[in-house]
Amino acid sequence: MQLAGQKIAAVLEQAIGLKTESLGATTLERAVRSRMRAVECESVTSYLARLASSALELRLLVEEVVVPETWFFRDQEPFTFLARYVKHSGKDLTRESIRILSLPCSTGEEPYSIAMTLLLAGIAPTSFYIDAVDVSERVLARARLGVYGTNSFRGGDLSFRDVFFTNRDEGYVLQKNVREKVRFVQGNIIQPGFMASLGRYDVIFCRNVLIYFNEAAQGQSLELLHQALLAGGILFTGHAEAGLFSGSRLFSVAHARAFAFRRLEKPKTEGAWSDAGACDLEQPAAVLSRSAPAGKRAKTTAPRRTAVVGEAQGAAELKLVRRLADQGRLEEAVQRSEEHLRRHGPAAEWYYLLGIIRDSMGQADEAMKLLRKAVYLDPGNVDSLIHLALLAERAGDRDGAANYRRRARKIQEEGGK
Ligand SMILES: C[S@@+](CC[C@H](N)C(=O)[O-])C[C@H]1O[C@@H](n2cnc3c(N)ncnc32)[C@H](O)[C@@H]1O
Repeated sequence: MQLAGQKIAAVLEQAIGLKTESLGATTLERAVRSRMRAVECESVTSYLARLASSALELRLLVEEVVVPETWFFRDQEPFTFLARYVKHSGKDLTRESIRILSLPCSTGEEPYSIAMTLLLAGIAPTSFYIDAVDVSERVLARARLGVYGTNSFRGGDLSFRDVFFTNRDEGYVLQKNVREKVRFVQGNIIQPGFMASLGRYDVIFCRNVLIYFNEAAQGQSLELLHQALLAGGILFTGHAEAGLFSGSRLFSVAHARAFAFRRLEKPKTEGAWSDAGACDLEQPAAVLSRSAPAGKRAKTTAPRRTAVVGEAQGAAELKLVRRLADQGRLEEAVQRSEEHLRRHGPAAEWYYLLGIIRDSMGQADEAMKLLRKAVYLDPGNVDSLIHLALLAERAGDRDGAANYRRRARKIQEEGGK
C-alpha cells in the first residue's frame, strides 16, 4: 500500500488539512481498506484513481478518518469565562445578539454546552445565536438528533443533565429549547471561501482540531479565524493548541485554563467594545465592604485591619487586575501587579498572573521567569506548570514541556485521590 497509500494521505492533507501521522500508524490504512471493501476495489492503486475522480468518495473517506472525540463542558473553564464575557460584553442584549461559532462541533456537545451556559447565566434565548460547523455529515446528523450516551457526560458536576435532558431508553434526550438554539452546517475550515461565507463572530470556539492539521493548514486556519473574529471578540482553543496562537495577533486572556484569546483592534464604530467588561469591574473597596460582616462595615477604614480583611483586599485586587488584563489593559495590569508585589512581598498567585500577562505582551522569557517563581513559592501551582509547558513547547523545548506537564498531571492526580 506504500506509494499509493502516501498519495491517499496527500489527497486527505490537501482536502481537509489533516496530517495523517497525527492519526496513528494504522488508522488511515484501516480506513482505506474499509472503503475499498465498500466500493469493491481490488487494489489501493485503483482506489486512489477512484478517489481522485469522485468527490463523494473523498467525503466518505473523510468520514472514516475524522476524530469526533468530544463531551459536554469539555475543560469547564472556557464556559465559565464565556458566561462572564457575554454578560459584560458591553452590548445592549435587548437590541443586539451575540454571534457564536463552534467549529468543529463534532456531535454537538460543544455548541450545546455553549447554549446551556448562556441560558444558565440568564441570557435571553433571543440574545444569542450559535452556528456549529463540522466537515463530517455523520457527526452532524447525530448532533441534530440531540440524543446522548453516558460517554458524552464526563465531568464531575453533571447537574446540567438534570436540567436540560430527559433520560429515555434511547439515551439522554436534549430539550428542544437548547437544540433549536444551534444551527448546524456542514463545512470545511480550509475550503476556500467557506469561512467568509459564514460572516463574523463575537465568540469562536475552535478546539481540538488544529492539532491534527499540518503546518500549512494550521497557518491558513489561524488567518481565517482571525478574519472571522469581530474586534473585541474572543476565540477559545484547545489547551494543546494554545501555543499556536501565542505569537499571533490575538491576546491571551488572563483566565486560567480558559485557553482564550481576544482580538483587540479598535472597531470602526467608536465605543462598540472598548468598554467591554468595564461594567464588571469592582473596585477593591467595594468588595471589601461587601465581604465584611454587616455590622462591621463602617470599620473597614479603621487603622488596624485584620488579616482576613487584608486577604479579602488582596483577592479583590487580584480580581481587578485579572479583569484589566481581560480587557486588554495590559500595561495597567502589569503596573498594578508589580506595585502589589512591591508592597506585599512575593506571592505565587501574583507571579502567575503577571507571568501570563507578560506572555500576552509577547515577553515569553520574562513570563517563564515569573511562572517559575510562582512554582518555587507554590510547588502545587498547576496553572503555572501548565503554562510553563506551553511556553517550553513554543520555545521548541519538548522535554521541558513534557516535564512540566508530568508534574502538573501528578499534582492533579494526587488532588483527585
Ligand atoms: C476532536 S473533535 C473536536 C470537537 C470539539 N471542538 C471539542 O473540542 O470537543 C474534531 C472534529 O474536527 C472535525 N474536522 C476535522 N477536520 C475538519 C475541517 N477541515 N473542517 C471542519 N471540521 C473538521 C472532525 O470531523 C471532528 O468532528
